[in-house]
Amino acid sequence: MSQNPPRAFVIGDPIAHSRSPLLHRTWLSQYGIAGSYEPIHVTSRELPAFVERLRAGEFVGGNVTIPHKQAIMPFCTRLSDNARRIGAVNTLVVAKNEILGRNTDWIGFARNLDAGAPGWDQKANKSAIVLGAGGAARAILVALIARGFSKIRILNRTAPKAHEIVADFSWAAPVHIHGGALTDFARHAGSTGLVVNTSAVGMHGTRFDNLPLDRLAPDCLVTDIVYTPLETPLLADARALGLETVDGLGMLIHQAAPGFAAWFGREPEITPQLRFELEQSLFAKAKAKGS
Ligand code: ATR
Repeated sequence: MSQNPPRAFVIGDPIAHSRSPLLHRTWLSQYGIAGSYEPIHVTSRELPAFVERLRAGEFVGGNVTIPHKQAIMPFCTRLSDNARRIGAVNTLVVAKNEILGRNTDWIGFARNLDAGAPGWDQKANKSAIVLGAGGAARAILVALIARGFSKIRILNRTAPKAHEIVADFSWAAPVHIHGGALTDFARHAGSTGLVVNTSAVGMHGTRFDNLPLDRLAPDCLVTDIVYTPLETPLLADARALGLETVDGLGMLIHQAAPGFAAWFGREPEITPQLRFELEQSLFAKAKAKGS
């Protein structure tokens, strides 16, 4: 069912912190589209009632954030292959009595590196180390597999969680995916072309204990999906060693674009101005908190 003007949303609990409205509203006004994008506070208990609103055709779709990324899955009439592989949905597209669940985090990750480090996936050494083994690690794994990486090592504080992901990604064979502990980093650092942090380390300026970045090859790219702060200690340490780095803010912008295109029929442009506005908004929030 389509409405006029089309309405989209982001649901979560909490939701006030979400930067998605800023992104989508900027694009709506830039393209003169008479649509809307609303943050809606939905608790876990309220999720089924919200799905009823979707079924009634109130919205063309929207984004789903914590704590609903998994919980929404049984309500979807269809899931994209990658949402299923990642085990989480961040984008819903509602059309013709269907609720399609997608995951665009992996697209956001890949396109952020396309923009920030062109050719990142074309290096001869198609080998990566992924730090962390939560939901975000699965999205990054899908991106690396899609971009032809042949050897991926997931290292996590709790090694069994990394091994669990390896087992869940058996479909990706012949890509070699191995699990291990963070303490294995030194052993594998020299032969990797990319290091991605997907763990919570880095948020609010926290640092990994004993991660010997000096073992990395000089052409290794280091990236972080944490973007508060913009330059995490991991990125700062890598940069101090002369390594190329890409921050995680672009991933947030790039993951939003496929949803906008599906709901409003226009592929949005990702401009330096948009990134600047997002940075300003994050900075204002940090300042308000006194951090
Ligand atoms: P998400 O779904 O966003 O990826 P998550 O499932 O909570 O979030 O995963 C958080 C990741 O950060 C995990 O890999 C976690 O490691 P554990 O599995 O050992 O808990 C990692 N993490 C959080 N704090 C950490 C710390 N201080 N040192 C190392 N890893 C940490």
